[in-house]
Amino acid sequence: MPTVPEHIAIVMDGNGRWAERRKRPRTFGHQAGLKALRRTTEHCARIGVRTLTVFAFSSENWNRPEREIKRLMELFMRALDKEVSALHENGVRVRFIGDRHAFPGELQMNMRQAEALTASNQKMTLVVAANYGGRWDIVQAAQALARQVATGQLLPEDVDHDRLAARLALADTPDPDLLIRTGGEMRISNFLLWQAAYAELYFTEVLWPDFGAEDLDRAITAYQGRERRFGLTGQQVRGGAGA
Ligand code: IPE
Ligand code: IPE
Ligand code: MG
Repeated sequence: MPTVPEHIAIVMDGNGRWAERRKRPRTFGHQAGLKALRRTTEHCARIGVRTLTVFAFSSENWNRPEREIKRLMELFMRALDKEVSALHENGVRVRFIGDRHAFPGELQMNMRQAEALTASNQKMTLVVAANYGGRWDIVQAAQALARQVATGQLLPEDVDHDRLAARLALADTPDPDLLIRTGGEMRISNFLLWQAAYAELYFTEVLWPDFGAEDLDRAITAYQGRERRFGLTGQQVRGGAGA
């Protein structure tokens, strides 16, 4: 049986355009996007994906119109109130990555509560990247190591791949195998820059609110057709002659 990716990451893009096409406010698209996230999480749990990491709000999204930001924060609050108990019942652990200090205090508290409530769930982990940026992630890891160097706990030459990786968000989670972006754009937009170094990329025109189980299955089928070489030759990977 072809293997299901252990860790899928998704840039959930296209909510605004989905709403605009319906002559509705962008927030309507974000609401529909939340439903797509629910569907996708359920499907991932069903087919045995261990970790689903979704990009919900980037460090650059603060530059959007104030009204949209306000509505997004309200939607996050409502989503936390409404969705977490169902996720918990289904054995899903919820985690957040990103600089959460920028969020309203009440939202931060709900995030902490959701994490605490679901901390020991085993079926699957849903990681929500909120006020996340790949560059922020690398900078905060570098700062943590710099602090250790400053206090003499670490020598500059001890700063290496493993020590930096250990300070990044998701340090305890295997890197994403498959990175999906909906909405037709073919860019990373400062998502998991370090962690996605060897992720298989999959882009689809489908707008996030329209994304369903069959779209996820299509992405996984494409993933299963790829040969992941990690710098080796194809022959080495397949264990053939010349390996
Ligand atoms: C992604 O959808 C959701 C967030 C960034 C919060 P967009 O809001 O970027 O939707 P488009 O790209 O404008 O269609
Ligand atoms: C990326 O989408 C961020 C999220 C999906 C949360 P954007 O819509 O912000 O990305 P750009 O601006 O088109 O690159
Ligand atoms: Mg967008």
